[in-house]
This record gives sequence, structure tokens and C-alpha cells, in this order.
Amino acid sequence: MVPTLIKDLLSSKPESQKVTVCGWIRSVRDSKNLVFIQVNDGSCFANIQLTFDRNSPSPNANVNNIEEELKKLNTGASVRAEGLLISSPASGQAVEVTLESLKTLGTCNPEEYPLQKNKMSMEYLRTNAHLRARTNTFGAVYRVRNQMAFAVHSFFQERGFQYINAPEITCSDCEGAGEMFQVTTLSMEKIAELGVKAGAGGMKIEDAHKIVDYSKDFFGKKASLTVSGQLEAETMATALSRVYTFGPTFRAENSNTPRHLAEFWMIEPEMAFFDLDDDMDIQEDFVKYLLNWALTKCRSDLEFFDKRIQPGLIESLEKVAKAKFVRISYTDAIAKLEEAEKNGAKFEFKPYWGCDIATEHERYLTEKIFGCPVMVFNYPKEIKSFYMKQNDDGKTVKAVDVLVPGIGELIGGSEREENYEKLLKACEERKMDMSNYQWYLDLRRFGTVPHSGFGLGFERLIRYITGMENIRDVIPYPRAPKLADF
Ligand code: 4AD
Ligand code: MG
Repeated sequence: MVPTLIKDLLSSKPESQKVTVCGWIRSVRDSKNLVFIQVNDGSCFANIQLTFDRNSPSPNANVNNIEEELKKLNTGASVRAEGLLISSPASGQAVEVTLESLKTLGTCNPEEYPLQKNKMSMEYLRTNAHLRARTNTFGAVYRVRNQMAFAVHSFFQERGFQYINAPEITCSDCEGAGEMFQVTTLSMEKIAELGVKAGAGGMKIEDAHKIVDYSKDFFGKKASLTVSGQLEAETMATALSRVYTFGPTFRAENSNTPRHLAEFWMIEPEMAFFDLDDDMDIQEDFVKYLLNWALTKCRSDLEFFDKRIQPGLIESLEKVAKAKFVRISYTDAIAKLEEAEKNGAKFEFKPYWGCDIATEHERYLTEKIFGCPVMVFNYPKEIKSFYMKQNDDGKTVKAVDVLVPGIGELIGGSEREENYEKLLKACEERKMDMSNYQWYLDLRRFGTVPHSGFGLGFERLIRYITGMENIRDVIPYPRAPKLADF
């Protein structure tokens, strides 16, 4: 028989009905006549308690079987139990199961089990990422992740957006930062061999690239893992009006920080006929929708994070879910930062007009100056990507970043340049290889429309909602420089 999930058992009416529970043992307390077993199956934060009373076992209890099985039980072992769901006589839980039969499915040697009772560091748990989902913290993180993925689809589906898939392998570099992981079937060893031979023949280092013949590579040209699905999403939005992607993206930036991953999930909506203000409106609605979803659908997990990971978390999320986000131009934001510095604020990087807003600046704006999410818009064109719509001032583009307390940048978005000549010029200024972007320019030749979009980093969102300190702890198997275990 398929077992009932513990979350469903815990919300059922206890009428001494027979139930089957399967899961992993969190603890066993065997005190003379009474045995209490806590079982968790990950369906919810709480465990269910199995009880066995030696003095008055359940009338149908297979006492010998239970005693035999109890000898094999340790934390981490997996079990299948049958019994009656009753209302619990003790405080601590509303219902419990009085055991009728017990079967140990898999034993777990306590000497070798990496998950110990005492507090384990996040670093230690990262080295046991294959087992960490069994801890309170990671069970909660992964349930929140699941709920938020559902919330993302729900938000867009309710608003007439169509879910689309952008390719993972691409020949274009959307962000133009050159942070691409190359995808190739050419043999590195073979190329090195050729290089050695050529070197021996006096080949100059600047000619080294000539050794690589991409026409012989799998795709017949240089290809990479995508940094963003935006460009392809734009092609879909200029046909389906409102679309969104939700998939993995890859960045080969050598950033060893608590906010960067080499592989992260991004949600990228793209909307035809939206300008930057419309874009900002929907970004704000989206973030609030996600927070409200977490506050209602992930309550017990959030209560745990509030108690153990980040005190005050729930209150601060509730506040943000109701707050009006501040909208401020880049120019005004820089002025605020410069003023703060004059008044004694210490920054590692001096803020000035034209600088990229660093994490410390982002956090200062959202945490110290405004105390709520901040949308900074109209950035200098030099520090942003080629596709952003140029403002009439000739200096700035219609970009927006959403900054949130504790995280910094959560969303990056923009209105897109829909004018063919202006876009072409922006590409040329950046010396882009236009052979890979003709299709993108075509959108501006055939029925071009104003359009906008944005990208929200899913792991940054989960970090924000759970209060987890490190982005590596909100994705099951983090990928970062020198880290591709499991
Ligand atoms: O600001 P970014 O680079 O924008 C884009 O990729 C646009 N093409 C999005 C669009 O307009 N469709 O990235 C968007 C978001 C960031 O705000 C951040 O939340 C997240 O993606 N992000 C990362 N998350 C984890 N690790 C990294 N290395 C990240 N880089 C960006
Ligand atoms: Mg960005």
C-alpha cells in the first residue's frame, strides 16, 4: 500500500483509523515501557510520532515483530510502519500513531552516518550535500524552493504569459561579459598536441587560436552555455506578446561570493508593448506576490528560518510585501551615495557617476538609506548591455535593477532598444561579432515593437525568503569555482 504523506496525516482527523507511515527516523526514545519514534518524510517540517506502549500495546499490535525491529532502529534508518492514528495524549503534537507493525527498510550505522545530532556547520553539510536534505534546515529550503517555483508559474499564468524554453546551448553572449562556458567536442589534448608541435615550429603565441578549427567542432562554430535566455525570449514575445522562461543559466565568472553561482536558475519574462514603467510595475507586483505566497504557503518552514536562521525574517518579509518600492534614477542614487560618503559612510569602492553600483552600495541604498526595496533605473550605457533602450540624453539606458535588503540585486531588467539603427550602432560600438546576431536584429526590421523584460535570480530569491546566508545552500548541488561535486 502506498503510504500516506506525513503532512496529510498531521492534518487528518484522528479517528483510530489504520494508517501506513514511511520515512526516515529522526530519533528513537526507548524508556522502559514507552517507545517514541520520530519519523520524517520531508513532506512537511514536522515529524510524526510513532508510539509503542509495552504495558498496553494496540490490540492488533504484532509485539514480537515490533521488539525485533526496534533493535535495528537508529537515526537515519528508513521504516515502514502501520498503526492507528489517534489524537495525542501528550502535548507537542496533535496526532500520533500507535504502532501495530514495524519494518526497517534500511538500517543506518550511527558510527558512520554523517548527520550527527550536534549542530553541524553549513560547510560540513555542503560536503554531504547528498544527505543534507534530511536535515530540518535543508528540508525547509527545498520545500520553499518547490513552492516558489510553483508561485512563479502561477503568477505568470494568471496574467496571460506563456511559458517558453530558451536554448541552453547558444552562440550569442546576451550580457556581453564574456563569462561563457564553452561547449565543445574538440579534444583539448589534441589541440594541446597541435600547439606543442606548432610551438616547436616557432609559432607565435598570438597565432595560437589558428590551431583551433571550429568548423570541425560539433556545432561547426564556437558555442557556449547560455548566460541568459533573454534574446530568444524577445523573439517569442514579439509573436506571443507575453512570455517567460524559467531555466538554468550559466556564468563562468570567477566569483567566490555568497551571492554568485556558476549555474543558477533564472526567471525571464519578456513583454511586448511594455515600457520601462510598465516593466517596473510588474517587477514590484511579482516580488510581492512571491513573498505573499511564501508567507502563506510555507508558514511552518518560514517559522523555522525565523527562529533559527534569521530572527525577524517573517516580520521583514511582511513589511516588504506591503511596502511601496522606492524608484530612483541612477544619477540620484549616486548622489545619495556620494552624500552618505561625505557624511562618514565607509565604502571600499568610491561611488561616482559612471561607476558600476557595487554590492556594498546596493545594500547601503536599500538597507541604510531607504529601508525597503529600491529600483534604480536609467544607468550609464557604458556599464550595461547592448540591447537596452537608449535615452535621449545620449548617456543613459532604460535599465532597472531591483535591490532588496540583505541581498542587493535581485532583478536586472530593461526596456529593449527597438530601433534597428540604434541597436546596430550599440553592437558595433561593442565590436560584437554580428554574424551571431542577425536574427536578433531582424526583430527590429520586421514589425518592431517597444518591449521590456527582466531576469530574477531564483537562488537569490530563495536566499532572501529563507534568510540563508550563502547561495550555495539554497540549491541542491551548487556549482561555483572549483566546486562541481555530486
Ligand atoms: O542582471 P542580469 O545579468 O540580467 C540578465 O541576465 C538579463 N538578460 C535579464 C533580462 O533582462 N532578461 O541577471 C539577472 C539576475 C540578477 O539580478 C541576479 O538576481 C541573477 O540574475 N544572477 C545571478 N544569480 C546567481 N549567481 C550569479 N552568478 C548570478 N548572476 C546574475
Ligand atoms: Mg545585473
